[in-house]
Amino acid sequence: MPADGEGNATGTAWGWGSRFAATPDQRLQAFNASIGFDQRFIREDIRGSVAHARMLARQGIVSAQDAATLEAALWQVWDDAAAGTVAFTLADEDIHTGVERLMRERIGDVTGKLHTARSRNDQVATDFRLWARGAAYEVLAGVLGLADTLAAVAADHADTVMPGYTHLQRAQPVVLAHHLHAYVAMLERDADRLRAAIDRLNRCPLGAAALAGSTFPLDREGVAAELGFDGPVDNSMDAVSDRDFVLDLLNACAMTQLHISRLSEEVVLWTSAEFRFATLDDAFATGSSIMPQKKNADIAELARGKTGRIVGHLVGMMVTTKGLPLTYNKDLQEDKEGLFDTVDSLLLVLDVVPPMLRTMRWDRDRMAAAAVADFALATDAADLLARHGVPFREAHGVVGRLVARCVAEGRTFADLDAAEWAAVHPVFGRERPPLDALTSVSARDITGGTAPAQVRAAQARVTTRLAHARAWLDERQAIHDAVMRRPGDAGTARSGIDA
Ligand code: ARG
Repeated sequence: MPADGEGNATGTAWGWGSRFAATPDQRLQAFNASIGFDQRFIREDIRGSVAHARMLARQGIVSAQDAATLEAALWQVWDDAAAGTVAFTLADEDIHTGVERLMRERIGDVTGKLHTARSRNDQVATDFRLWARGAAYEVLAGVLGLADTLAAVAADHADTVMPGYTHLQRAQPVVLAHHLHAYVAMLERDADRLRAAIDRLNRCPLGAAALAGSTFPLDREGVAAELGFDGPVDNSMDAVSDRDFVLDLLNACAMTQLHISRLSEEVVLWTSAEFRFATLDDAFATGSSIMPQKKNADIAELARGKTGRIVGHLVGMMVTTKGLPLTYNKDLQEDKEGLFDTVDSLLLVLDVVPPMLRTMRWDRDRMAAAAVADFALATDAADLLARHGVPFREAHGVVGRLVARCVAEGRTFADLDAAEWAAVHPVFGRERPPLDALTSVSARDITGGTAPAQVRAAQARVTTRLAHARAWLDERQAIHDAVMRRPGDAGTARSGIDA
């Protein structure tokens, strides 16, 4: 981007330059400008300005004719931006001044009436909330899509047994669907966090002006309603200084990413030769340039690896916000790129992980064999004793000693004959503990347990909840899309989280 544009927009008399004797130093311009990245919400900026201009006319603050001129110029800039024919320079400083300069080139000095009763402080807060709202809906759609995928894979595996782990040691058998449902539960909480973040951010800062409100009789409620907000931000000082909405969204994204990272780690493990529970489809795996035999889980690794930058952006913004006195400080300009990158990265992850999961092939035999190996049914044996009145601690001791003996002798429970079982404990003389995984999992037949019947019931609950979340999203997304649609445009062009 060239350092100097025609007119040196912000430094001119129509910008903020009138009280300055010197034009801005180029190094200041380069350092100060956000136009390099805040162009991304040009549509949100224009849409907010349209609502402001209309309100100024409704309230008799500018004439209806001037407002119509302003609005027409705003839509012209919108169209030119969509056609890719607008260019900004560092002298524009930011998108707000940049759009105003483009309007000025089209309609001249009347442009200056648009900034009546408004500051870039309430303007940027509004633009970024609008952008964040659109982005949050996109992320939420991706999260629900991933949850749907996991639920769909789970539906085929309500009785596919596998080892469940603690400490990454085989612990007790579970069914694969149960394991996958645990991730669905995490993603449902992530979706809840996103919804809560959206609800909290959906208040309109416009009307706060620089910080104290305005001397003009603004209709803040009307502007908020037009932009799809639930109402204005209550306190004008809070309106221009609050960036909790950015942090809420960064946090919701970071938590989501964290969960996907854990799942990705499992995919890496499951597809390794050590586990070999699953194989990746060739279309979703990579090779090595030197080792011809290699088939690597790069998608899962990268999906895990993205966690660093996403958590980094959350921490970065927290530190940026810490210690800022009220109200607006230029530090707050640092709120944007971290959220952009977070949303971009997470959307990439949410795009590629579901098809990777959908196309994985599961080795049921291998999982079933692993499910009963390494004495994974020892708890079932202890439970059997406890069911017959043996105190559980004592039952645990009996079976623990049996495990130790078997390990020393290189045998498994399946190798013991009836007499040996009876010698271990009289109860085992009457009833033998289960030796197959399906019997073991089926016995865990309580709410939230891994019995196939319970898992099928859980599957039905998950499906219902995900459908509700999807309906909420569709309804809210439609409102947002309607707000962000240019009059005269058909279709459902999304608000523009595109870079
Ligand atoms: N580019 C600025 C930002 O992103 C816009 C607000 C500028 N306000 C100001 N008082 N300098 O925060």
